[in-house]
Amino acid sequence: MRGVLLSGGTGSRLRPITHTGPKQLVPVANKPVIEYAIEDLKAAGVTEIGVVLGHKGREEIQELLGDGSKYGVDITYIVQGNPLGLAHAVGCAREFVDDSDFVVYLGDNMLRHGVSDLIESFQSDEYGAGIALQEVSNPEAFGVADVDDQGTVKRLVEKPDDPPSNLALIGMYVFSPAVFDVIEDLEPSWRGELEITDAIQSLLENGYEIDSHVVTGWWKDTGKPEDILEANRLVLEDAERSLRGTVEDGAEIRGKVQLAKSATIESGAVVRGPVSIADDVTIEDGSYVGPYTSIGENTRIAGPHIENTVIVGESEVTTNGRIIDSLIGRAAQVESAEGMLPEGRRMVVGENSQLHL
Ligand code: DAU
Repeated sequence: MRGVLLSGGTGSRLRPITHTGPKQLVPVANKPVIEYAIEDLKAAGVTEIGVVLGHKGREEIQELLGDGSKYGVDITYIVQGNPLGLAHAVGCAREFVDDSDFVVYLGDNMLRHGVSDLIESFQSDEYGAGIALQEVSNPEAFGVADVDDQGTVKRLVEKPDDPPSNLALIGMYVFSPAVFDVIEDLEPSWRGELEITDAIQSLLENGYEIDSHVVTGWWKDTGKPEDILEANRLVLEDAERSLRGTVEDGAEIRGKVQLAKSATIESGAVVRGPVSIADDVTIEDGSYVGPYTSIGENTRIAGPHIENTVIVGESEVTTNGRIIDSLIGRAAQVESAEGMLPEGRRMVVGENSQLHL
């Protein structure tokens, strides 16, 4: 089965982080979100992957993924251009999937247990599509399925004001090629997009059955800063301790800390896992890096108390204050005035920003 990975879109809900780059490249535990999807597809035996790109971040995504060989997959790029909706993006892959069943994975979604079991369970000619669902507390933010007691899908609706259930469509679907004909007849939704949820609803109305599975294990749509932080927390929770870098005498390290080879924790610094520290990072004397923090490559941490935070990389954080629940974009500089009080600050800082607290 071929895979279609949707990586277009505007990333508007992750601004300012996505002003300069695509949301699929924001790192979770020091790995871009899109790499998790590629690895999940590969693990499920899907090695021919069509990556659908928009205008935004097209070069960066291509530069990272290349021809896919470093992941053991074969990548074909499909250009969608303007983000006219998920169904439009899937429609662009018609030639690539070549009249066979195919899997669609949203490039900003993460699933703890990957997609192998799901793809396995959808192997049947009886259905027009297979959808994966999970109970959520805010169904109005997602596509929602109305499913009867036998698990039969009755109706699907995108981001409803009055959700018929709390079962959200998660970002993974299996389609038969019949979906391409219904996509051609779709009308844009209230948000001006061709919705994949409407395409599946249209398959239902055309007499196709829709298979559904409720997914256990966490699932994250990493569309907003707080989702990135939560995904980071969930991935770090499963990580193993691995200290490959330099830990100077007098540095204190506790718990599951992942320290890359050319990273250094200097004497007088404290790191308390789960934490991920990438290459060429220095944690200087007097700094505290606390649980659920990831620090991206080539970053200098001098003095702060940091917790539950993602630092994308190439940054300098030289404040002596507390930074908590924060997302700090690439090449940002965070510094503080002399004598700043160590109160907690929550921030989302865009790429190349300078913040003087
Ligand atoms: O996360 C699950 C939800 O994903 C589902 O519950 C919804 O039914 C589904 O519509 C979708 O909703 P979102 O509003 O979260 O979709 P978003 O615009 O964030 O796009 C999802 C991915 O698809 C993202 O990686 C960007 C890509 N995309 C998006 C659009 C609109 C494209 O490749 N092309 C597009 O035109």
